[in-house]
Amino acid sequence: MGIRNIQHLALTVPDINSARDFFTDFGLETIERGDAVVCRCVGRDQDQLVLIEGHPRRLGYVSFGVGEAELQEMKKALAGRDDVSFADAPAWSDGEGIWFTDFEGMLTNLRAADEAPWRTESAATFNRPGKRERVGRRSEFLSRAAVNPRRLGHVVLFTTDAARKMDFYTDPLGMRLSDKVANFLNFMYCPTGSDHHVVAFAESWSWGLQHAAFEVDSTDEVGIAGDQMKGKGYVAAWGPGRHGPGSNVFYYIRDPFNWLFEYFADLDYIPEGMEWEAIDWAERDDSPHLWGPTESSDFPTNFETPKPR
Ligand SMILES: [Fe+2]
Repeated sequence: MGIRNIQHLALTVPDINSARDFFTDFGLETIERGDAVVCRCVGRDQDQLVLIEGHPRRLGYVSFGVGEAELQEMKKALAGRDDVSFADAPAWSDGEGIWFTDFEGMLTNLRAADEAPWRTESAATFNRPGKRERVGRRSEFLSRAAVNPRRLGHVVLFTTDAARKMDFYTDPLGMRLSDKVANFLNFMYCPTGSDHHVVAFAESWSWGLQHAAFEVDSTDEVGIAGDQMKGKGYVAAWGPGRHGPGSNVFYYIRDPFNWLFEYFADLDYIPEGMEWEAIDWAERDDSPHLWGPTESSDFPTNFETPKPR
């Protein structure tokens, strides 16, 4: 019993037009739905971001998918806790499933939902020693085509207590720790089979969104997409490079409100039933980042909520 996938997240943004422009440039489709702007990936029938205009900027909620038969069981498990309060769905949401605030007041939604399929066809071919996929023609990347992400893969959330958040997402929410960096960064996967992390928790002075990550077709597309965003005047906070935890290639771009959005490719996958051995990257001698530039000094900063004095 537990979370099986991420469905979407909602953000309150101070300027809906700048947000729409940013996510269009990022390669997503945008749809007007009542007062909200919904962002989707090309070729995928699943909301990925729900944007509503307002002040201050704030993570509205995160929506996760669970099994159809599990939803009521999970509701029962949550009802037995004194650190969870059931809540009304925001008026501008679709209202599906169960809504609650957790111990620190973060609104969360569980709904009976599978992952919608995403585009898996690839134009990219690679020549490796002993394995030539592309013979007699030039690289597909020379087309310099616009990059359209395939799916929302994960979110990294700020939390006031990363250990407590991890415990809550382990039981009753059913996720497992895949890796950690000391006690302030915890990566979680779904034992029903998922990416190395579907959600991760970074300790801060308030809950909120650190980044949301979208999968693209290849490691080259990570670099191309990030450079395209820089070419449009957006700020790159970090990348391109390859992480240790999750092994993925990454490129982080700042949106107009100082949240981070990541392009990623080639992330570790943990199949159903496997006991993944979590390690603490803070205890290793080598860097948790394998190659690429150093992160910008403000990469881990929680801009969503001003730091208390
Ligand atoms: Fe990420």
